[in-house]
Amino acid sequence: MTFDPELISLLRVPPKLVALTGAGVSQESGLRTFRDAQTGLWAQYKPEELASPEAFRRDPKLIWDWYAWRREAVKGVRPNPGHYALAEMAQRVPEFTLITQNVDGLHRMAGHQKLIELHGNIQRVRCADCYTFAEAWGDDTESVPRCSVCGGLLRPDVVWFGEALPRDQLEAAIEAARSCDVFFSIGTSGVVQPAASLAFAAHNRGAVVVEINAEPTPLTPKANYVFHGKSGEILPRLVEAVWG
Ligand code: OAD
Repeated sequence: MTFDPELISLLRVPPKLVALTGAGVSQESGLRTFRDAQTGLWAQYKPEELASPEAFRRDPKLIWDWYAWRREAVKGVRPNPGHYALAEMAQRVPEFTLITQNVDGLHRMAGHQKLIELHGNIQRVRCADCYTFAEAWGDDTESVPRCSVCGGLLRPDVVWFGEALPRDQLEAAIEAARSCDVFFSIGTSGVVQPAASLAFAAHNRGAVVVEINAEPTPLTPKANYVFHGKSGEILPRLVEAVWG
C-alpha cells in the first residue's frame, strides 16, 4: 500500500489531529460490529428492544443479562494493531484527540489514557436512579443488582437509544472536530448521530478528512483520502510510512 506524499507530509508537520473510531476498529479483535450484514449484533436483535431506557424499564433482567454477556465477551479480547497504531500516533502528534463510539475499552487497554468515550463504557456500572457508580456487582444474579446508596437498579454506563450523550464529552468532541487540521474517521458506518456529524463539521471548517473503512459510507464522497480495507492493517502501515 502506498500513501500520497502530501498526506505523509501533512501528518509529519504535525497537525492538530482528531480520530473518530467505531466498531470496525475492534472487529479484528474479534468483537462484532453493529451493522455489518449477518454478523452484526443488530442483525440478531432489534436495538430498540435491548438498548433503550424503555426496554430496561420493561425487562431490566433481559437487558442486564445481555450486557453481562457483552461484558464477558469484551473481557476476553485484546487490542489489535489498529488500536496500537492509534496509540502510537498519539505519542507522535502532541495535539491528538481520540473520540470513540466504542464502549469496549480497547483503546485504553492499548495505552490511550485520555480519550473521549461518546457512548460510555460497558465495564462501568451505575445506578439507573441516582447515578452512583458501583465498585463491584454480580453479573450472574437472579435479579438485577441494586445500588448500595439508594436501592435503585444498576445499569451499564452506556448511552442508549433516545438518551443524551455525556455533555462534557460531546462538547469536547465538537470543539476538537471544529478546530482540527486533519480528521480521521475509522471503522464507523457514520450513521449514528451526533457522532456522524463530527466528520462533516471538520470538513466544513476546512479540515482534511481521511476515511479508513472496509466499505464506502455516507462520508466517503466528502473525504480527501479514502482507504478501503482493515484498520488493523492500514493504520500500522500509515504510522510506518509517516514516522517509521
Ligand atoms: P457499525 O457497525 O455501524 O459500523 C462498523 C463499520 O466498520 C462499518 O462501516 C464497516 O464497514 C466497518 N468495518 C468493519 N470491519 C472493519 C475493519 N476491520 N476495519 C475497518 N472498518 C471496518 O458501528 P459504528 O459506526 O461504531 O451506539 O456504530 C455506531 C453506533 O451505533 C455504536 O456506537 C452503537 C450503535 O448503535 C450505541 O450503542 C449508542
